[in-house]
Amino acid sequence: MKIQSPPGMRDFYPEDMRLQNWLFEHWRGVSRSFGFSEYEGPIFEFLALYEAKSGPGIVSEVFNFQDRGERHFAIRPEMTPTLARMVAARANTLSRPIKWFSLPRMCRAERPQRGRLREFFQWNVDILGMDDVLADAEVIAVAVAFLKRVGLTPEDVVVKLSSRALATAILTGTGLAEDQVEPAFQLIDRAEKLSPDAFEEQWSAQCGQAISAATVLELLAGTDLDACLSMAGSGSGDTGRGAAEEFRALWDNLALFGVQDFCEFDLRTVRGLAYYTGPVFEVKTRKLGLRALFGGGRYDNLTQVLGGPRVTGVGFGAGDVPMLECLKDLGRLPTLGDELDVFIIDADAELFPKVLEIAGKLRQTGLTVDFSYKRQGLGKQFKQASARNARTAVIVGSELTERGELTIKNLTTGDQRTVAAETFLADPRGELTNQKTVASR
Ligand code: HAM
Repeated sequence: MKIQSPPGMRDFYPEDMRLQNWLFEHWRGVSRSFGFSEYEGPIFEFLALYEAKSGPGIVSEVFNFQDRGERHFAIRPEMTPTLARMVAARANTLSRPIKWFSLPRMCRAERPQRGRLREFFQWNVDILGMDDVLADAEVIAVAVAFLKRVGLTPEDVVVKLSSRALATAILTGTGLAEDQVEPAFQLIDRAEKLSPDAFEEQWSAQCGQAISAATVLELLAGTDLDACLSMAGSGSGDTGRGAAEEFRALWDNLALFGVQDFCEFDLRTVRGLAYYTGPVFEVKTRKLGLRALFGGGRYDNLTQVLGGPRVTGVGFGAGDVPMLECLKDLGRLPTLGDELDVFIIDADAELFPKVLEIAGKLRQTGLTVDFSYKRQGLGKQFKQASARNARTAVIVGSELTERGELTIKNLTTGDQRTVAAETFLADPRGELTNQKTVASR
């Protein structure tokens, strides 16, 4: 019986791994450049961690199982509950702000489709213990720094930005009951996927008659920031005014970080996860029709919901699948070869033991080194070196036994020279750098 990989899961052949690692290096590099530290958590958690914390969307998508002790577990569908659990456990000792990132592998039992699989990696960047929207602006600046680094511009992608607090003030100011706000957000989050009729039907069923579906859609279509802020701030309570002031401060901070040109105010962005409390955002492609590349926002109550002390948070998650799909469609994926620093070639099969000895010495210095397993002619060995994208060939021939010398050939330029084996092996990196045949690390 031929067994294939399960639906929505991927095999990573070496060429796929090169791309994954390229992406991970950028994720790590950008996170570190903003002063974030890396963390990890377990691949599965108690199911209870996700129940009612993330909202119905995610809970219905978890792969769950029971162990022999009949305890219920779920493979992590997202990282935020784990992060909140970890931070809550050490809330008193962690120094603030907590700026952490992670590149977890996770699973969701959703229907595989373009940009969405059942297993994926998700870059998570979060700041906890910092109430100021400066933190919200900084995580958005991290996202934009990455987008720029991989060659994307405001013509390619947009950060759609809003605030649940702002949308709440506008909706309740128009008559929606407080307890209808969360069901309204769940529905608004799915609005793009629904026909107007289906939206209207579900709105009346789930969110009551206080305001009509048409009014909601009209309210949320507003993209005039000033008009929306004044509408939110004009209500009777302080909450709307506070939300409007907070959003204005966030918008101004985005300008200070130099990323406002990537951002657009859009009240329809509310996010489907129930724990968001303030500003929320998604990165979308302008033309490709892909689902969101990034999703995030502020979650100020999650550690408390999990039974810990209150530690406010803000952050985002970004999947590898939609990101690579986007770069592929735009023709921006890099061409990555499997590169070697050195390929060692013997000009005489008798000298093969020397090849092994030299390979061992070079590998100890951290160089990437290989050679042919088969004893064969020079031509075939050079062919193999070039197929492996080696930058340099070190040729072991009679000059080694006669004069103690090695021939070093730069495979990019074709330049060739002989060096004393002793000098070369004393500092191979230096010798190769002089000849510019080693990648700078
Ligand atoms: P999310 O919107 O569920 O948020 O996911 C965030 C991102 O993860 C999506 O925009 C997408 O890039 C990627 N993603 C989600 N599902 C899949 C899938 N099935 N296949 C591939 N990629 C996927 C969260 O997960 C929040 N916990 C993010 C967050 C972190 N909020 C605050 N901090």
